[in-house]
Amino acid sequence: MKMEPQKSVTEELARPTLPPISRERVPLQKSNVCSRSYFMVVMVFFHVYIINVIALLLYVHYNNGAVEPGAVGGEPTARDSHRHPPPDFHLHDPDSRSERTMYLPRIEGIRVGHVQKVSLVPNKVHEMRTLSLKPLLFEIPGFLSEEECHLVVQLAQLKGLTESQVMVPEGQEDIAEQLNLSSEEIFNLLDLNQDGRLQLQEILTHSRVHDGIWLTPENLREIYAGLKADPDGDGLLSLEEFQRLSTNAFQRFLQQRGVQRSQLVRNSRHTWLYQGEGAHHVLRELRKRVTRLTRLPPKLVDLSEPLQVVRYEQGGHYHAHHDSGPVYPETACTHTRLAANSSAPFETSCRYITVLFYLNTVEGGGETTFPVADNRTYEETALIQNDVDLLDTRRHCDKGNLRVKPIKGTAVLWYNYLSDGKGWVGELDEYSLHGGCVVTRGMKWVANNWINIDPNYERQARYQQLVSQTVSSGNPDADPDPEHHSDLHQDL
Ligand code: OGA
Ligand code: CA
Ligand code: CA
Ligand code: FE2
Repeated sequence: MKMEPQKSVTEELARPTLPPISRERVPLQKSNVCSRSYFMVVMVFFHVYIINVIALLLYVHYNNGAVEPGAVGGEPTARDSHRHPPPDFHLHDPDSRSERTMYLPRIEGIRVGHVQKVSLVPNKVHEMRTLSLKPLLFEIPGFLSEEECHLVVQLAQLKGLTESQVMVPEGQEDIAEQLNLSSEEIFNLLDLNQDGRLQLQEILTHSRVHDGIWLTPENLREIYAGLKADPDGDGLLSLEEFQRLSTNAFQRFLQQRGVQRSQLVRNSRHTWLYQGEGAHHVLRELRKRVTRLTRLPPKLVDLSEPLQVVRYEQGGHYHAHHDSGPVYPETACTHTRLAANSSAPFETSCRYITVLFYLNTVEGGGETTFPVADNRTYEETALIQNDVDLLDTRRHCDKGNLRVKPIKGTAVLWYNYLSDGKGWVGELDEYSLHGGCVVTRGMKWVANNWINIDPNYERQARYQQLVSQTVSSGNPDADPDPEHHSDLHQDL
């Protein structure tokens, strides 16, 4: 094949310009060409316009065709997403052995401030307002009536509440001793950013996650001074400085000094209320309402944790946290552990959705804070600075991005996980970080309805199959009812 030598751009520009064609030579022809091409352009635009109008009409027709039981009015996209599985959903997934038959609809947020109407109870239409898109978060005023709030509080009191967190964790020191770790190995585990030094944040994170004790940078400096841990006073622990400390020096220092309730990660009391067959009709009705609100298959909601009712007294708080753990291949979900490979070394709560109810209007403080909602980026280390620790809901709630006021009967709903784009659970949504601000006046009563879904589709499906088998075979030893969660989460 003969190749035309390519002209370079500079070549093209350097080409001598041709002498201009005289205007008088072809006046008629030129005007003909002009009007013809003008006509062509107009016709093309006209056709494109007609095709667009037809496409738009078809789109509107098909979107309005299906009537959503949970939603009345609202925008078409808000209903559309959950009626049809994503186009590739029924395709055979290379990772899975069976074809997927379940998919998870997600409510669409549209934009912050968007209000959609939802039909959850007969003869009443609720309004659901989008509060943020990252995480996908909604507020539904009047989700519970005054009487329902009152009843849930009374049932919780009747059952009795227990401390949400015990004061001093015991027996944890032994793990490091059992494993016979050297102080250098421990140092490396603590050094999250692997720069060979321990920053204040690294010690604070460890103390919060491992011991459930919420130290502030000032507390830690106090401890360093008490233990003479940082002789060069640079606020960092070098390996040498760390090695000079005896094992568990921090824990022992804290135990001697005593830990106050206000220094715990979570300062509240709670109980669990079963919502299945035989439960109080209001509790069962609430579960139905949550199913309609979330638009999830009822079975998924029915197999989730019972209702957790929480009471914060004046001074109570819950520092910022995620309700769920991250998705790692070696991590099993607590609720599907029956169906999990028993060798899975880690276990975490898999709470796809949180529906939080406010059971009273709090007199002072007690807002639910979402410190990084709709931030452009999420950087874990940037959250804890020396002067402002955005995770601290006793001191810095006012500096977070979004706060929801606790108003009796209001529900808030958010997704703790992103979608995987194929109709199932994807990655943990880090922006779902949230906490309960300190209650400055009065009491605060809330209830959590968590919807548990395993990000591993196969495991969730196997778990559901196991549960339905045990139910149909009537095996009395098996524990298919969701109340088994109540023991499980006592220690949360
Ligand atoms: C929780 C929680 C927030 C609040 O119980 O997990 O985040 O406002 N509560 O109490
Ligand atoms: Ca470090
Ligand atoms: Ca130092
Ligand atoms: Fe929470």
